[in-house]
Amino acid sequence: MGAIIIVDREPSFASKLEGLLCREPGVEVRQSTSLGKLADEVATPDAHVVVFGPSLPLDAVLEAADMPAVRSHATALVLVVPKVTTELLRRAMRAGFADVVGADGTFGEVASAVVDVHNEVMRRRTASGEHAGVEGANGRGKVVTVFSTKGGVGKSVIASNLGVALADPLGMNAILLDLDLQFGDIGIMLGLKPERTIYDAVQVYDRLDAAMLKGYLTTHKSGLRTLLAPIRPEEAEAITTSRLSHIIALLRELADVVVIDTPAAFDETVLTAVDKSDEVFAVATMDVASIKNTRISLQKLRQLGYNDELVKLVLNRADSKVWLELSEVEHAVDSEIVARIPSDRLVPRSVNKGTPVVTDAPKSAVARSLLEMARLVAPPKGANADVA
Ligand SMILES: Nc1ncnc2c1ncn2[C@@H]1O[C@H](COP(=O)(O)OP(=O)(O)OP(=O)(O)O)[C@@H](O)[C@H]1O
Ligand SMILES: [Mg+2]
Repeated sequence: MGAIIIVDREPSFASKLEGLLCREPGVEVRQSTSLGKLADEVATPDAHVVVFGPSLPLDAVLEAADMPAVRSHATALVLVVPKVTTELLRRAMRAGFADVVGADGTFGEVASAVVDVHNEVMRRRTASGEHAGVEGANGRGKVVTVFSTKGGVGKSVIASNLGVALADPLGMNAILLDLDLQFGDIGIMLGLKPERTIYDAVQVYDRLDAAMLKGYLTTHKSGLRTLLAPIRPEEAEAITTSRLSHIIALLRELADVVVIDTPAAFDETVLTAVDKSDEVFAVATMDVASIKNTRISLQKLRQLGYNDELVKLVLNRADSKVWLELSEVEHAVDSEIVARIPSDRLVPRSVNKGTPVVTDAPKSAVARSLLEMARLVAPPKGANADVA
C-alpha cells in the first residue's frame, strides 16, 4: 500500500486531485495544507508520493523537499506548478523531483502524472524488496558509465558512491559493474569479498541469462549489487566485447540503474560500455593535464559519432585552489559541468576503510554532492520504458 500526500494552501486543489486519485485501486490519499506539517506526515512506514500543489512558493517547496524527514521517508516527489519552464524543471530535477506538471493543463493530466509516479514507486519497491528475486516485468534499466582516460581522477570513488547512494537512500534497484578488468578496486572500496566475478559469469557464457547472472552478483549492505572485476589480471582477456555487450544487456534487465566503472583507457572495453550507455559522466579534475585529456577524449567520442548529449562533465576535487575558472573548464572541454565533487580527506579515509563516503560521512559536503549526483542519475519516472 502506498500513500499519496497532497500539500497545497488551496484546499480545493487537493480535494479535486484527491477525487481523481481515489478512483485508483490500492491508493490512499491524504491532504495537507501546510509544508510545516509535512515532516510529521511522511513519518509513517508507507511508500509515499508527495505532491506539492501550485499555490506553494517554489523556494519553500525546495526547502521542504530537502528536509531530512522528507528525504528519508518520501519515496517520490511531484511538483505541480502554474506553468512549467526549463529553468524550473532543471531546479526541480536537481532537487530530486520525479516529475513536474503544469497546472495549466487539465486536472486529469495532473492526476495521471501522479498515478504514473505512484505506480513506478510501487514497482521499484517490489523490485528492490526482492533483490535476489523477480524484478519488475518491464525492468529495463538505465546504463550510466563513469569515464576518464586519465588515472586517479576519482572514477571508482564516484562510481562506488553513486551506486551506493542510488541503492540507499534513493531506494533504487542498482547494479555496479566494475569494468576495470585488470585492476578493478570496487570490491576493496566497498569492503566486499569477491567470491564470484565477471570472469566466472563468462565461464558459463553459453547458458548465461539474466536469472543466472544474478548468481554472480555480490550484494553490498546498502542493497547495491555489484558485478566485480576478475581476481587475476590475466582473466580480463576472457571478457570479449561481444560477451560484455550481452552482459550489460542482461544487467539492464535486472536493475533500474546500471553504473559502470571503467579503467583509465580508451580501448574496446570502455567503448563498449560507452556504446551501451544512456549517459556517460566524464570525470575531470582541476588541472590542465586532466582538462586537456578530457577534451581530447570527448573530441574522439564526437568523431566516433556519439552525440554531445550523451556525455556530461563531472568535476572532481572541484574546490582545489587552482587558477582555473569553472567557465574556462566548460569552454575548454565544450561541455557543461553537471556535478562538482569537492576535495576532502574523508574520501581517502573512506576508501581505506572500505566504506563509501556517502555512508561513512553522509553529512559532509563531499557526500552531499555525490548524493546530488546520484539524484541526477536516478532515472525519472517511466525512463525504463524509453530504453531502446
Ligand atoms: N573528491 C576527492 N577528494 C579527495 N580525494 C579523492 C577524491 N576523489 C578521489 N580521491 C582520491 O584519489 C584517489 C584515486 O581515486 P580513484 O581510485 O577513484 O581514481 P580512478 O579514476 O578510479 O583511478 P584509476 O583510473 O587508476 O582507476 C583515491 O585515493 C581517492 O581517495
Ligand atoms: Mg578506478
